[in-house]
Amino acid sequence: MKKFYITTPIYYANAKPHVGHAYTTVAADVFARYHELLGEDVFFLTGTDEHGVKNAEAAEEAGLTPTEFVAKQADVFKKTWKSLNIGYDDFIRTDEARHKSSASKFLTDLKEKEVLYKSKYEGLYCVGCEKFITEKDLVDGKCPDHKKPPRMVSEENWFFRLNRFLPQVKKMVEIDEIKILPENSKKETLGLLKQGLEDFSVSREKVSWGIPVPFDKSETIYVWVEALHNYLSAIGYEKKASQFKKFWPADLQLLSHDILKFHTVFWPAILLALGLPQPKRLFIHGYFTIDGQKMSKSIGNVIDPNELVKKFDADGTRYLLLSQFPFSDDGDVQANRFVEKYNADLANNLGNLVSRVFAMNEKYFKGIVPECSGSKLNIQWERVLKQVGDHYAGDLDLYEILKAIWKFIAVLNGYVDSEKPWELAKVSSSVEVPLVKANADKLAAVIFSLLDGIYKLCFLLYPFIPETAKKIAKSFGVEKITETIKKEKLKPGIKLKKPAILFPRK
Ligand code: MSP
Repeated sequence: MKKFYITTPIYYANAKPHVGHAYTTVAADVFARYHELLGEDVFFLTGTDEHGVKNAEAAEEAGLTPTEFVAKQADVFKKTWKSLNIGYDDFIRTDEARHKSSASKFLTDLKEKEVLYKSKYEGLYCVGCEKFITEKDLVDGKCPDHKKPPRMVSEENWFFRLNRFLPQVKKMVEIDEIKILPENSKKETLGLLKQGLEDFSVSREKVSWGIPVPFDKSETIYVWVEALHNYLSAIGYEKKASQFKKFWPADLQLLSHDILKFHTVFWPAILLALGLPQPKRLFIHGYFTIDGQKMSKSIGNVIDPNELVKKFDADGTRYLLLSQFPFSDDGDVQANRFVEKYNADLANNLGNLVSRVFAMNEKYFKGIVPECSGSKLNIQWERVLKQVGDHYAGDLDLYEILKAIWKFIAVLNGYVDSEKPWELAKVSSSVEVPLVKANADKLAAVIFSLLDGIYKLCFLLYPFIPETAKKIAKSFGVEKITETIKKEKLKPGIKLKKPAILFPRK
């Protein structure tokens, strides 16, 4: 059986999740569900990044020990993902014993590969980014992302010989052996490589909230290094479990630009040092702002995904997030347009279509799928199926996939309007019997084609709006959506149950 291992970044536990984190996680869930439909053995990993200065300081502010604080925060993430119907297979917390011991082994392995050395380091450190930054990165003396001045840090650290691997990383990126999508993120990576990068530290001397370096107890492992290791520790790196052998390399790793360098340069270099294969694809999706500004607590424009779920339910929220803009583009989320979009795309175009077609089938055929040799909309269906399949296999653009699906929904709605089943159903006493028969056959073909289209649509809708797709499928008597639904002709003669309203208008 083909396997599919997909990951999201592990999110900092210092604050609760916002729509930015939800965006990546919902996207990963869509890919996971799609590959599950294809019958693959899917492993979907997400989690929380719990060590380092940022988390330690947030714990102190909350008046809790770091251990208590991060455990509490991890639960907030888990609860949020549950409310969004995220079906992850594993949630890794970096303060868990399994990760801590695996990360120690990982560092020992790097040391044994002779790619670590100890050296003195003095530089500026941004706690918000949890990374060293240079003078030239600053704007008015502050980190441009976190709007705070960095701290001067002077430490003895263990360093990774990044430069030893850079030529190879560059070559592999160029020839797509390290496959970075979209193209502009590949270019950004090559730009960074061209400009040259310094070796990076893998340990911190003065950060106590972390995993001790196994061969130097005066240091802890640098939070970013052990965070990257989560992709390996969760599948059993330490004992090279069968799960590790089965799932590594990852098939798709999702992230946004903010952490590109760590994933497209440092991570491949670490894997090269360990002699491990590279992930098959790294996809760097767009980073969004809210009403023109970066999301931040101080501006007060942070959107809590739980609030969206309260208003639009899980499926509504999932759709609204992914239909904002092309998956690889940065964009501005216009929260004030959510209601409009929900009403137009979900309540009207999809919800209304289903309710109208089922109502007509009830009225004209007593709820039984009419007899018909085949759908009149097969060509359009084959077209959308191919388009969607191509996107999933190629550019991974979930936004374009949604657009294609909604275009098919528009085809179905347009078909209702052009064929006017209610007119076909009118039996006028002045009409000759053969004409009535022709109309009756046409009516059966029209309703059949619409029902068949909606039935097959469940396959494409399921990854994005799983509960809605399941409700629709249930109306056709289907308990579990599988790949077969996309090829199968709906069986005439079965009695349908009209689904309850799918998306109540807001
Ligand atoms: N803990 C590190 C990641 C370690 S992974 C080995 C981290 N955490 S984070 O909480 O800051 O999450 C960053 C990621 O969250 C982004 O790369 C992206 O996946 C998601 N997003 C956070 N804000 C976002 C937006 N405003 N827009 C889109 N995605 C966003 O960095």
